[in-house]
Amino acid sequence: MSVPLKTPDEIEGMRVAGRLASELLDHLTPSVQQGVTTKEVNDLAHAYMVNVQHTTPATLNYAPPGHAPYPASLCTSVNHVVCHGIPGDKKLKDGDIVNIDVTVIKDGYHGDTSRMFLVGKPSIQAKRLSDITYEAMWRGIRSVRPGAHLGDIGATIQRFAEGHGYSIVREFCGHGIGRQFHEEPQVLHYGRPGTGLELQPGMIFTVEPMVNAGRPGIRCLADGWTIVTADHSLSAQWEHTVLVTADGYEVLTVSAGSPPPP
Ligand code: MF3
Ligand code: CO
Ligand code: CO
Repeated sequence: MSVPLKTPDEIEGMRVAGRLASELLDHLTPSVQQGVTTKEVNDLAHAYMVNVQHTTPATLNYAPPGHAPYPASLCTSVNHVVCHGIPGDKKLKDGDIVNIDVTVIKDGYHGDTSRMFLVGKPSIQAKRLSDITYEAMWRGIRSVRPGAHLGDIGATIQRFAEGHGYSIVREFCGHGIGRQFHEEPQVLHYGRPGTGLELQPGMIFTVEPMVNAGRPGIRCLADGWTIVTADHSLSAQWEHTVLVTADGYEVLTVSAGSPPPP
């Protein structure tokens, strides 16, 4: 397994891409409302990327081996959709929880981040799931430092989420990122402390736990992309792109509208 260590120039490129990805979510935030379709959010994002940011939507026509090209400029995953929800004509409604996941390419570098949005007044349970998932991501990020292991990140996230009665989706993970959208290493959101790759300064990867209110099992819909919980329970996800620094970590996907760390 080869995990690239980024040069100072590459790190600066990734800072720019990360900030732009986060600013894109800031731009979308006021529009994520009842009555708005996820396709409308997609189109707003696409126009902002292409015309304002001069970035490229990495997801549009993204086609990993065995997959049809992904047909949209972001992912919108509503309620029991775990990830990779395809924007469509369904309107967001009061009480929905939706993950919006964006990946922009700027000067060849990828910035990948997602947030949960609560539409109208969600149930206490739905808000708690989003909040716990957010804190799980942050606890994972805070375990990042040189000499720590990937298993420390996964174990921290798993212990926290399962400790609140939730489950971790196993089939999808964080990933190295740079000039490629998905590169080594795989960053599992479960595991055992002290196991797996030892972290070194210059590594860049995402931390993006998917947490289900019910059982961990998932199913893929007939469109070949949309992942849902097998038991139809709610699912939440948050994502940041993170650099390993000499003494800890730096979150690259930050902007004025980033929610404060817990
Ligand atoms: N942004 C997602 C991630 O965090 C990947 C989406 S791939 C797509 O890795 F094709 F579904 F858009
Ligand atoms: Co990602
Ligand atoms: Co993403």
